[in-house]
Amino acid sequence: MKIIEVQNYDQMSQQAAKIIIETVQDRPQTVLGLATGGTPLGTYTYLVRDHQLNGTSYKQVHTVNLDEYVGKAPSDEQSYSYYMNKHLFEPANIPKTQTYLPNGLAANLEEEAERYTHTLQSLGGVDLQLLGIGKNGHIGFNEPGTSFDSETHVVQLTPSTRQANAKYFSSESEVPTQAITLGIATIMKAKRILLIVSGIEKAEILYQCLYGQIDEQIPASILQKHPHVTIIADQEALSVVNQKAEAH
Ligand code: PGA
Repeated sequence: MKIIEVQNYDQMSQQAAKIIIETVQDRPQTVLGLATGGTPLGTYTYLVRDHQLNGTSYKQVHTVNLDEYVGKAPSDEQSYSYYMNKHLFEPANIPKTQTYLPNGLAANLEEEAERYTHTLQSLGGVDLQLLGIGKNGHIGFNEPGTSFDSETHVVQLTPSTRQANAKYFSSESEVPTQAITLGIATIMKAKRILLIVSGIEKAEILYQCLYGQIDEQIPASILQKHPHVTIIADQEALSVVNQKAEAH
């Protein structure tokens, strides 16, 4: 694992964008695995800025998102589809037909999860997966206790995740209770993983993810086994890691 320590959220976003831009410039047909939530927003802002200023093209890129809420349509502002269209796909001119998210409105959710796995396989897998980490150690919506062997599946969101995401809704009761997410085994198949982490509230879980036991109770701890992970984290997020290193 390669750890890049930066000062703050803005630098994290800039560094992550730089790696994605270089990857796409190097291989225009790159399959990007993408994430939502608060952490990647700055990264997407830098990608869009670079696209506008320097013309980096995403015409041949395919994107596969980690997850989507069950019951949310792409037209719904709280859906991840809406988020991606607004923050990245439209402003970076990524052809809509080359962007994939699970369909949270599918009548048969299990079938939809399977269909999404096939979509990913037909693209040849993810070249570069951008990942955030939840305060409880989740990656995608793979909550603590999820099998490391899991493929794309339907999940019940934990109270802590619904609470963390309530800021995007008018109340916690409106946060969906289910989602479709790439599984942990699916995420681990990405050729390269870029984990971005910012803020003091992620400091303890980042330490456990990097140096704790590899345990299904901390889904992100599996990343220790991935051969090609880059972590970009700011000083606050690395504060527990650095404290423990000093203590030794
Ligand atoms: P956040 O979420 O970026 O909104 O903190 C990260 C995650 O839950 O994976």
